[in-house]
Amino acid sequence: MKLKICWPESRDGTCPGAIATLSTHLGVGWNKRKAGADCGQPRFARFWAGSNNGNANPDCLMTTASELSVAEYFARLASSYGAGEYYRKRRAAALTEIERRLGKIESLLDLGCGNGTYLSGFREAIDPKFLVGADLSFRMAQEASRRRVTSAIVVADATLLPFRSTSFRAIFCSHVLQFVADLARCVAEISRCLAPAGTFIIAGGEFGVGERLKTLLGEVRWGALRAELPRPRNARTRHSLGDYQNAAQRAGLSVEPQGVDFTVSCADLAEFYRVRWLPLCESSAQVTLGGVLDELVSERGSESFQMNESLLFCQQSRPTVTSS
Ligand SMILES: C[S@@+](CC[C@H](N)C(=O)[O-])C[C@H]1O[C@@H](n2cnc3c(N)ncnc32)[C@H](O)[C@@H]1O
Repeated sequence: MKLKICWPESRDGTCPGAIATLSTHLGVGWNKRKAGADCGQPRFARFWAGSNNGNANPDCLMTTASELSVAEYFARLASSYGAGEYYRKRRAAALTEIERRLGKIESLLDLGCGNGTYLSGFREAIDPKFLVGADLSFRMAQEASRRRVTSAIVVADATLLPFRSTSFRAIFCSHVLQFVADLARCVAEISRCLAPAGTFIIAGGEFGVGERLKTLLGEVRWGALRAELPRPRNARTRHSLGDYQNAAQRAGLSVEPQGVDFTVSCADLAEFYRVRWLPLCESSAQVTLGGVLDELVSERGSESFQMNESLLFCQQSRPTVTSS
């Protein structure tokens, strides 16, 4: 299987070569009338002509994480995001439920795929003929492509998707929507790209890890730790599960919530915090955070807890539309 990363090599408003490559690629073993890059469409030209897609400076090593755009912020996590037991167990629980509900499907888009940990899981569990990853961060997309499990990896903004209408049987978004400023537009785009009777799956929305750690650490240590956790500068309001549900319903999707349980140890939780936050912290904060987590592991490392990952299964019911 040929692998491509497609990203905005041309910003002059013309159709970039990389996207033409994607379009060609989609023609291989795939119905071009149903799926493909909308190269000729104004919406697409506008996207690639955008002056800042958030990847202007993927390294930004001298900048504090809270001053970074969403794409730059996640670029710093590209090599580590999703590693460790906490993430592995959470993914396994979600994948089991998704596989149970979807069975074998022909096409799946992992939107905001990060470095592709879920893509590998989808390849193993569902093995869609056409598996695509898309992410705002070029670095993340680059890491995802190294897994060599997809038909294509695309750098794209979830609010302006470079796919033809009705392209995918399923679209998956795990812990992405809280970083998307225009939720309504994003969900409308997803709904557009879903095939009739296709499923949009949202993972994440309620944030149990922080509450769990707060209980374990107590107010004072939790307060010290929390103060050190940077968020990207242009991340807007953190949406709730209810917001996602409303946005999906407004886009014409019917929604069924489903929580999945998984069990982690206190050491797993501490590892999660190291993986997710340490690469973003300045060195002094790394020392504070590392110290608090070391204490936690030595005090209560082997205790285990049941955690819950929220899933929303959003079903497309509109009739087939003819894609342009
Ligand atoms: C918390 S990570 C989750 C990664 C992956 N979905 C997972 O669960 O392992 C969020 C990802 O969403 C991507 N992202 C954030 N905003 C986005 C947007 N507007 N369009 C596409 N991707 C976006 C980030 O670059 C990052 O890779």
